[in-house]
Amino acid sequence: MNILVVYSSRTGNTKRVAQSIADVLGVKAVDVKTNPDYTAFDLIVAGYWVDRGGPNHEMKSYLQGITHKKVALFSTLGADPLSEHGKNSVAAGIDSLGDDSTCVGTFICRGKVDPLLVEQMKGRFPVGHPHAYTPEWLARIDAAAAHPTEEDLESARLFAEQLKVTYH
Ligand SMILES: Cc1cc2nc3c(=O)[nH]c(=O)nc-3n(C[C@H](O)[C@H](O)[C@H](O)COP(=O)(O)O)c2cc1C
Repeated sequence: MNILVVYSSRTGNTKRVAQSIADVLGVKAVDVKTNPDYTAFDLIVAGYWVDRGGPNHEMKSYLQGITHKKVALFSTLGADPLSEHGKNSVAAGIDSLGDDSTCVGTFICRGKVDPLLVEQMKGRFPVGHPHAYTPEWLARIDAAAAHPTEEDLESARLFAEQLKVTYH
């Protein structure tokens, strides 16, 4: 089976996960910026970083253009992957798929948040807002700081192994 691994990554977290997955599948991870032609592939494994609760813009556009295919999705985000926000971000990725494409698997893990962004958030949102600069918000940023960890990358490899067993 022909497998395409395509990713979008602003600061490298999603790229690292993409490379771990691609290694297991024996292919090269391709940057979505090169707009790879997916039509000849039987399975597309596509990764995005979470931007305001869903796939980042570039990958969202790419996903919307994928029709009649099996797609496995992976993503990285600053928040807890098991939070409502995390679950909704996976659902938003699935919702982005084009006509008659089916999501056959998902993987999500934390990814450290760009320190420049953290600095810019200071004082930008009022208390009560999910991104308000509170100790709780900072704790979430701290919790993401070491990710993706070697353990995350190992989980990503396991995800890829499962795809390999099912679709190779
Ligand atoms: C502009 C911007 C918006 C973001 N929005 C979210 C978000 O809504 N939820 C979240 O959990 N993380 C959010 N993040 C954090 C990133 O999803 C996270 O750091 C991700 O691992 C970055 O991946 P990358 O290194 O591949 O670019 C945001 C980061 C940026 C820069």
